[in-house]
Amino acid sequence: MKLIFIGPPGSGKGTQAKRLAATHGVPHISTGDMLREAIADGTELGRKAGPIVASGGLVPDDVMVGIIKDRLAKTDARKGFILDGYPRTLVQAERLDSFVGNGSGGLRVLQLLVPDEVIVKRIALRRSCPQCGAIYHLETAPPRDDEVCDRDGAELIARPDDNEQAVRTRLEAFHRQTLPVATFYKSKSVLRQVDGVGPVDVVFERIEKSLS
Ligand code: AP5
Repeated sequence: MKLIFIGPPGSGKGTQAKRLAATHGVPHISTGDMLREAIADGTELGRKAGPIVASGGLVPDDVMVGIIKDRLAKTDARKGFILDGYPRTLVQAERLDSFVGNGSGGLRVLQLLVPDEVIVKRIALRRSCPQCGAIYHLETAPPRDDEVCDRDGAELIARPDDNEQAVRTRLEAFHRQTLPVATFYKSKSVLRQVDGVGPVDVVFERIEKSLS
């Protein structure tokens, strides 16, 4: 399986991509997670990307292309991968073509359709585990114990870029820079669109069906 997830912030890319990766035995590659890890570790990339991620803008294409090229060259990605959050611009999509092919290499693209008003509600109550990256929602997918990760007991956090201003910027970036990527893949007949509104299990079933 070589799959790209496209969807607005908070549409459920991470939730569904993690589950699909576990089911199909391929790595879940999230550029957002990779950047957050670099920021937490204080690496050069993290110092450069930190203010951009916090504001909701996009990290420059040349930086992102280099990161994803190195990650896809690792042995675990040879049998397949699920990309979550990449490509986000036409430049990133075109560069990805040059190292994984498009269509001919079995690449498929899944776009999650979720309206902006649903997004805002999802993001407001999202919590994540800073240790293992597990994603929760205080209403629809709550942890067993109040704001503590079920897996490792770490205290859950709200992401710093989940504030109102940054979410607005992220939505704008999605509409302006990432929707053209969906059109790009549609023209190559590798795009499938799935309704992302509904319970997580139901959305997962829709995704599996659209890929079968
Ligand atoms: P990234 O981490 O990719 O953020 P995003 O695209 O804004 O997406 P999110 O992680 O916010 O949401 P999601 O779609 O994964 O939803 P989730 O499953 O968590 O990127 C962060 C930043 O990094 C970017 O803004 C940018 O600065 C930078 N960056 C990353 N990649 C880049 C690139 N390629 N180029 C340039 N810059 C880049 O779900 C959200 C919530 O909803 C959760 O609480 C979840 O429990 C809940 N939920 C999920 N599904 C459902 C459902 N069906 N019903 C009800 N609730 C649900």
